[in-house]
Amino acid sequence: MSYEELLGIIRGRRSVRRFKPDPVPPEDIERMLEAALWAPSGSNTQPWLFNVVTNRDQIAQTADVIRLEIERIALEAPGFAETGENLARWGTFFDRAPLVFFVAGRRERSSWRTKLAETMPEHPAAGGSLSWLVSCAAAIQNLLLAAHALGYGTCWMGAPLVAKIPLEGFLELPEGYELLAVIPTGRPAEEPFPPRRKPREETVRLISQGR
Ligand SMILES: Cc1cc2nc3c(=O)[nH]c(=O)nc-3n(C[C@H](O)[C@H](O)[C@H](O)COP(=O)(O)O)c2cc1C
Repeated sequence: MSYEELLGIIRGRRSVRRFKPDPVPPEDIERMLEAALWAPSGSNTQPWLFNVVTNRDQIAQTADVIRLEIERIALEAPGFAETGENLARWGTFFDRAPLVFFVAGRRERSSWRTKLAETMPEHPAAGGSLSWLVSCAAAIQNLLLAAHALGYGTCWMGAPLVAKIPLEGFLELPEGYELLAVIPTGRPAEEPFPPRRKPREETVRLISQGR
């Protein structure tokens, strides 16, 4: 594959929020997972867990878990009501997708960091590492790109994490795993305009060029 083809996939991927109801065949789900699972990870820990849900009722129930949690928060914190309404809209539209990935991860620690924490606990690098989290993010991006290459739309969603704890219970995540992202997937029913990217000066620094 050429650079242009790869960039075409990367640039062409959009966050899609409307889906056709057609079920996603298992072989396509498998191909998306295959791409995700080949992501790099710190010390090859592969700290991710992809929870695949295709059952319409289960998907609807997970969205209800989120709505309920938002209502509960709004009862305790009345100032939250308006934000909560928005959050409910932006955080539950995954219930219109025929396939949803609930991506979880485990706080793995590399052996050098464990050793450092034992021998020099006050060293700043001995604390919590984000390696497990960024490794999961790499796997998620692989999944989004593979889905796009196969003609599916996806949206990486963080808003559902307002109900992280109840969702983790509902999904019966294994001990030690935390919910990181919700990714609705399906044939796109919209073609979103690409949101603008920041100018290079804000996001790239050329620290040195040549000698
Ligand atoms: C960590 C993360 C969390 C996100 N959470 C949400 C979300 O909860 N709801 C939503 O509609 N989009 C969400 N998005 C999608 C972003 O809004 C989107 O990626 C951004 O606007 C750029 O658009 P593009 O993905 O089409 O390039 C999230 C993206 C990331 C990476």
